[in-house]
Amino acid sequence: MDPKDEIKQKIDIVELIGETIQLKVAGSSGLKGLCPFHAEKTPSFHVSRDRQIWHCFGCGEGGDCFAFVMKMDGMTFPEALMHLGKKTGVEVRRLPTVESNTKQRLYQVNELAQKFFRKVLLDAAGAEAARAYVESRSIPAELADIFGIGYAPDEWDALSGFLQKRGFSENEIIQGGLALKKKSGSGVIDRFRHRLMIPLRDHHGNVVGFTGRSMPGDDQGPKYMNSPETPIYHKGSFVFGLDLAKRAIREKGFVVIVEGNLDVVASHKVGVQNIIASSGTALTQDQLTLLKRYTETIVFSFDADAAGFAAAKKGISLARGLGFDVRSAILPDGVKDPDELVQQNPLAWETLVVKSVPIMEFLIAHVTKGKDLRQVDDKREVAKELLPAISDMSSVVEREHWLQVVADLLSISADQLRASLQPPTSVKPSTSSTVSKPSLPKDEQARRLLFGFAIQTPSQFESVVARLKPLALNSQLWITLYNLALSAYDPSSQAAQTSHFSRIRSLTSGHADQEALEALLDTSILMAEETFADIPENQWLPRIEELFSVLSTLGLSRDREALARALRQAELVGDQEEVKRLLNSMPRL
Ligand code: UTP
Ligand code: MN
Repeated sequence: MDPKDEIKQKIDIVELIGETIQLKVAGSSGLKGLCPFHAEKTPSFHVSRDRQIWHCFGCGEGGDCFAFVMKMDGMTFPEALMHLGKKTGVEVRRLPTVESNTKQRLYQVNELAQKFFRKVLLDAAGAEAARAYVESRSIPAELADIFGIGYAPDEWDALSGFLQKRGFSENEIIQGGLALKKKSGSGVIDRFRHRLMIPLRDHHGNVVGFTGRSMPGDDQGPKYMNSPETPIYHKGSFVFGLDLAKRAIREKGFVVIVEGNLDVVASHKVGVQNIIASSGTALTQDQLTLLKRYTETIVFSFDADAAGFAAAKKGISLARGLGFDVRSAILPDGVKDPDELVQQNPLAWETLVVKSVPIMEFLIAHVTKGKDLRQVDDKREVAKELLPAISDMSSVVEREHWLQVVADLLSISADQLRASLQPPTSVKPSTSSTVSKPSLPKDEQARRLLFGFAIQTPSQFESVVARLKPLALNSQLWITLYNLALSAYDPSSQAAQTSHFSRIRSLTSGHADQEALEALLDTSILMAEETFADIPENQWLPRIEELFSVLSTLGLSRDREALARALRQAELVGDQEEVKRLLNSMPRL
């Protein structure tokens, strides 16, 4: 069997999409949720378990499992094929494009490097110090295993030599970020040497690079050394820990963001798994957008040092702008980071995270630290830091609340303080596809519902279609779809309604208007499944009649309006031929 079909057979689209989107039951075999491809507050993203398709009625995107991962993860079709093949255990042999082939090699070389580092940490004679270091940081063996932590030996080319023996070229090793070309002479040297190696895994769990922690007592180079940008690792959109956090984020309803990768590891030790690391820099819009797939609530925990404060402020305001509810878990005084807290008091971290406070409390605590609020200079400074954050709030209630809190803090009247607020800066929605298309006109809705009903109810197909067809002649696309539906119709297999749908769908494949036809077909069937699942069977026919009457009145009047407009236009320019043609095509009531 073709791998594409085999994958389709093995995969459950509800499960696949359910990994990224919270779906609620809608209808008998359908589900719906918030569309990840445009901003919306009420769900118009539908998934059908029976048909194994999805469609968003808000923005019009839709398709099968491949279309979903292509759209969601920006993959090409061959990449989607590889990805879902891996997921379902279906072997996908040939890699049709050079680009995806290269990427695949880079994933493989990093995966193999991870295995190498891991093995060295566990077994190598030269790795005692590294093993002792892991122990001193109280990382339990199971966690080191789950995160794939390893050790890069203190040698020039241990890794490169190993990878070359396994068939990777120097060029691939360099391109994968694992080695550097020797400055003089030929050959390569390992990028990471004598470091504790933490693999960077993307949200699918693929190793895309590494971060290497220097060993205690070794102050050569930075404390953390990271993989460079490669075709598979983009710092700006990478989120550490997401592969292991996805499920917990969905379950808990929020994500905790910390600075250090090892804070994430420590956190798992005490059962806080809905956690990711920003890796010490301000979060980017890409990273936040990725997180937005899983939750709308962020709990930041920033390290106590002031160094990251500017980055923190930037991340907070970006997250707010993207519509996140932003909260904070404030570490007790004197505790440097979550890792330290976990080592000191294993239970405290989870409590702190669960009892997070609004982000303003963090900002207030932070900017008032060490200030004497009786001094006018300190007051002014505190006001300067806090007022922009208040201005940013889109909710009046929230804004007034914090205004009062800060006014009290500074012993100023709230009115005075309000006067110095900037008008709220407009919230910038993410640039990608936030415009929702208007919902369908009533007659088009009726047309799709009726068509969908006909497809899913073989006993009614002929009669519904016979009445529907003349009411659909307004568009070439509908006519094409009708003809496909008719040629796919097989009255002898009346029970097999799913197969009628899939026969039509396979007829659309390769058609010049394939995408538009599929969208029409998919939305029709999804709408019908949902609508008719909620109606008792003896109410179906009355509902059908209702829909037909909507169609004949609305549809015809719409056609007449369009005709009338065209007619006026033709008369205006004096095109008599056109006037005649239009008059002849006027539908008779
Ligand atoms: P920290 O200096 O707070 O380190 O940097 P940490 O996470 O507490 O590490 P340990 O506990 O000392 O091992 C926070 C994050 O900033 C990034 C790393 O991602 C780190 O986890 N960082 C820091 C670098 O990328 N390079 C550096 O040299 C230092
Ligand atoms: Mn630390």
